[in-house]
Amino acid sequence: MPSFLAPPLQPLRIRFDSPAATAEPAGPLLVRRMSSLEGLFEAEGLRRELADAGDPIVYTVASSPVPELPRELPQSLTTIAPGTLGGEFYMTKGHQHPDPQGEIYLCLRGTGGLLTFDGATTSWIEMTPGVIGYMPPGWAHRSINTGDEEYQFLAVYPGSAGHDYQWVVENGMGERIFQGPTGVVRRPFRVDTGVPA
Ligand code: F6R
Ligand code: ZN
Repeated sequence: MPSFLAPPLQPLRIRFDSPAATAEPAGPLLVRRMSSLEGLFEAEGLRRELADAGDPIVYTVASSPVPELPRELPQSLTTIAPGTLGGEFYMTKGHQHPDPQGEIYLCLRGTGGLLTFDGATTSWIEMTPGVIGYMPPGWAHRSINTGDEEYQFLAVYPGSAGHDYQWVVENGMGERIFQGPTGVVRRPFRVDTGVPA
């Protein structure tokens, strides 16, 4: 099982193989299935049903061997499957960097979006191949596949940034992204109280 390298690292040539979503040399590969996305989709009941019936892969994250440590600059390739759950597009969990640090995503293939939220304001960046989305420090971020093929992007981020997933569970992302009759529909995030609206 590939893992991160221990510092001090030597200068390194890294090749990300798109669309295979492998890094050479390889670091860890993370596979996120429906069962690991509890409480993130609006249709939590449907998510649970799907997790119990087949538990499909929603996205994978293939990292290079550069470790998530201060002063390093790790990279990873995220591939999100096409699909919707209760009309809401397949997406990543989303997180905040506990050490507020910026990050860039470069879209490699497919069609998607980058949803960012600073706790008050939501921003949406459409992502197509060749586009870089920049997340400034302090903005939680989530990626969404809005197309009917896989959506893939390269992330480059400071190794000291860290990942706080609970922040998004508690604060949401300001909006949810649904498939509408003519394309993407952005809806205000609402907390599911279990009581029909
Ligand atoms: C790293 C980063 C990306 C994401 C990846 C999966 O800081 O933003 O590499 O980690 O796209 O998304 P999450 O981490 O939200 O499951
Ligand atoms: Zn990040």
